[in-house]
Amino acid sequence: MKLGIITGTTRKGNAGTAIGQWVHEALQGRTDVELAELSVADFDLNFLTEETIPGMANGVYEDEKTTAWAAAIKELDGFLFVTPEYNAAPPAAMKNAVDLLFAEWSEKPVGFVGYGFHKGVRAVNQWRDIVRNLKMVDAETAVEIDLGAEMADGSFAPAEGQVEVLNKVVDEVLAAAK
Ligand SMILES: Cc1cc2nc3c(=O)[nH]c(=O)nc-3n(C[C@H](O)[C@H](O)[C@H](O)COP(=O)(O)O)c2cc1C
Repeated sequence: MKLGIITGTTRKGNAGTAIGQWVHEALQGRTDVELAELSVADFDLNFLTEETIPGMANGVYEDEKTTAWAAAIKELDGFLFVTPEYNAAPPAAMKNAVDLLFAEWSEKPVGFVGYGFHKGVRAVNQWRDIVRNLKMVDAETAVEIDLGAEMADGSFAPAEGQVEVLNKVVDEVLAAAK
């Protein structure tokens, strides 16, 4: 399976890049997934303005940046969303990136790596409704990162057991793909 690690933050000096890199490195030994790391920030996406709603667009978009994003997502068979929590919810730029497409997400599995001072739990809970609306299948287990404890001095130091939880999420993503 081609597994996309989608890092959702678009902030300068963010926490998410280090967490996305940790996810990538921690999974590198697995032979059952081919990893691709994608950062929403790198695609510099516009807000959704297209007249045709993404669910009716059959993967054809007017906006060039959306078209490039769609091509990258279409390539992948499943996803890990590395998501911050902003105001108890998913970050707007990442939600927009998801809203821009439909067919490219549909019927694919997704797992979550949430982070924040509340372990990203509230953002992940909202993501579950969002991805189910796209007909995605979400892994029950999620990685929950407590920034207060695991990024206390500004560098990411995952708590004991996080690699095992991450692998369980990937196992569930693979099972859902079947
Ligand atoms: C607009 C905004 C709202 C935030 N709201 C929350 C929140 O509701 N819960 C939380 O745990 N952390 C919240 N935070 C703190 C973030 O968890 C923290 O800044 C984290 O580093 C954000 O991820 P990022 O650096 O990858 O963008 C918020 C941060 C921002 C920028």
